[in-house]
Amino acid sequence: MCGIVGYIGKEQAAPILLDGLSKLEYRGYDSAGIAVFNGTSIEMTKSTGKLKILEELTQGGATLPGNMGIGHTRWATHGSPSDINAHPHFNKEHSIAIVHNGIIENYQKLKKHMEKRGYEFLSETDTEVLAHMLDYYYNGDPVETITKVMHRVEGSYGLGIMFLDQPDCLYAARKDSPLIVGQSDKGNFIASDVPAVLKYTREVYYIQNEEIACLKNDSITFFNIDKEEIEKELTTIEWDVAAAEKGGYEFFMLKEIYEQPKAVRDTLNPRIKGNDIVIEELGMTDEDIRAVRKIYLVACGSAYHTCVAAKYVFEGLARIPVEVDLASEFRYRKPIFEEGAMAVIVSQSGETADSLAALREAKNNGVRTLGIVNVVGSSIAREADNVIYTWAGPEIAVATTKGYSTQLIAHYLLAVKFARVRGTISAKEMTEMVEALKCLPEQIEFLLANKERIQKFANRYLATEHVFFIGRGIDYAISLEGSLKLKEISYIHSEAYAAGELKHGTISLIEEGTLVTAVLTQDDLYQKSISNVQEVRTRGAFVLAVTNTGHTEVEKSADYVIYIPQTNKYFTPSLAVIPLQLFGYYISLGRGLDVDKPRNLAKSVTVE
Ligand code: G6P
Repeated sequence: MCGIVGYIGKEQAAPILLDGLSKLEYRGYDSAGIAVFNGTSIEMTKSTGKLKILEELTQGGATLPGNMGIGHTRWATHGSPSDINAHPHFNKEHSIAIVHNGIIENYQKLKKHMEKRGYEFLSETDTEVLAHMLDYYYNGDPVETITKVMHRVEGSYGLGIMFLDQPDCLYAARKDSPLIVGQSDKGNFIASDVPAVLKYTREVYYIQNEEIACLKNDSITFFNIDKEEIEKELTTIEWDVAAAEKGGYEFFMLKEIYEQPKAVRDTLNPRIKGNDIVIEELGMTDEDIRAVRKIYLVACGSAYHTCVAAKYVFEGLARIPVEVDLASEFRYRKPIFEEGAMAVIVSQSGETADSLAALREAKNNGVRTLGIVNVVGSSIAREADNVIYTWAGPEIAVATTKGYSTQLIAHYLLAVKFARVRGTISAKEMTEMVEALKCLPEQIEFLLANKERIQKFANRYLATEHVFFIGRGIDYAISLEGSLKLKEISYIHSEAYAAGELKHGTISLIEEGTLVTAVLTQDDLYQKSISNVQEVRTRGAFVLAVTNTGHTEVEKSADYVIYIPQTNKYFTPSLAVIPLQLFGYYISLGRGLDVDKPRNLAKSVTVE
């Protein structure tokens, strides 16, 4: 999604803005722009396409001198990707410049009002209405003006604003769209995400909903929407710039695939005490856990796929009924919440608009909420009653890998904990499961060490047009993720089916040479899945099977077999997903695509 960077200080602003925006490229964008105050006027350059074009147009920022500026990468929502729709936007006199992330939901109504007042609109964006409203309400007091606009707009926004007659102050405001303020000796920054400022500072403030920041060279002041000055706490970012850089890998995705053993370990270890699972941040007593009657697992994208897998784990181990929902459906379907319901919202970014709305829907209905979130201090993390952080570190590639893997771990920890507290598993079973969990990082390392077989196989299928993924039970959940990984970065049509559904339609699509990936990790469903493999093979499919070590029978029915190490039957997604991630990666690489930034996709979908 869109990215924001702003700077005020002793240095030239434009190169800092360009550099900061480059750190946010992973969010996905289709145009970019910067505006800099040069002592007498605010000058701007913007362009459709990659940041490189903007860098060339501005000669690395040299054509826009000045010490205060704002920059933006835009991912089109209102209006096509074009130079005119790119940010920053201005009022008519070019005395107010603004960049905006989010969506102004009532912009059409506001636009009509402003048009009646004589304002002319140049772009198709919702953002431009903010520039004209700021102009209309401006009375020489920027904070008061900004609050007036905030009171009138509905929707979400992270804003960076410059006023020509306030040359020593850069303004920021937010509601439901992330925005941070970075503080350093050489000046102060605003950004929609931490990596944009990490090169310059680790000291950041998180702007909360309906707050405003005024940044000067050497001071930062915060206000609430009632214009009252407020105190905020400075946070030191512990993670490294290097962690947000590629570290020698060709693509972030491969780096992040390789970081999975560590990410899984970091998520697991602090919560394992001897043979017990202790999740302090859960904020639930054993009595609370026993009182849970239903769990809603809600998320989007790959995070949703972890929920599909987790349903089998929670129901199988803890015997608690689970409903799994796509957040975009959950927020509107008016679920019937009963006494004892609890909603678990899963999100790597913690900013996905639908997931955040689903969280609020549950909260508004008095349902206990728990976030499984990776980004510390993100909206979902802040708003959920409790939050379990996945310690995956910054994830940059649009296609999630370590985010997915650590979400699975959080689900397992919860399910095993709940099961033991509710007495549906014995102490011995729990010990065995904890042992199995502890082995996962090494088992993932083993799979990664054998990546060449997958790479070889992928290289044979670079030209394929359709791929089907099949599995039963938890293997169906793994298939969903394998299919998504492939399609999102390789642009190959792929679909995941519960293997038992094949005969209800999909099998008619199988023809000579169609690639079918079958996941068979569940002993009780193994024979049934083998039958499905045979069904597609006799119709000409080429079958890649992923199964447990020792399950060699499948070799008679499949053309190519990948074995994963033995683990508890509920934890197989953590292992089976690895070859499927690598398959997607190598296909995308082999097709010469931009693995980390697939077309039309964004890392964090902060609009509906
Ligand atoms: C986007 C990303 C996916 C991710 C999904 C949910 O579609 O490309 O990788 O799974 O959003 O994101 P979240 O941050 O809520 O986990």
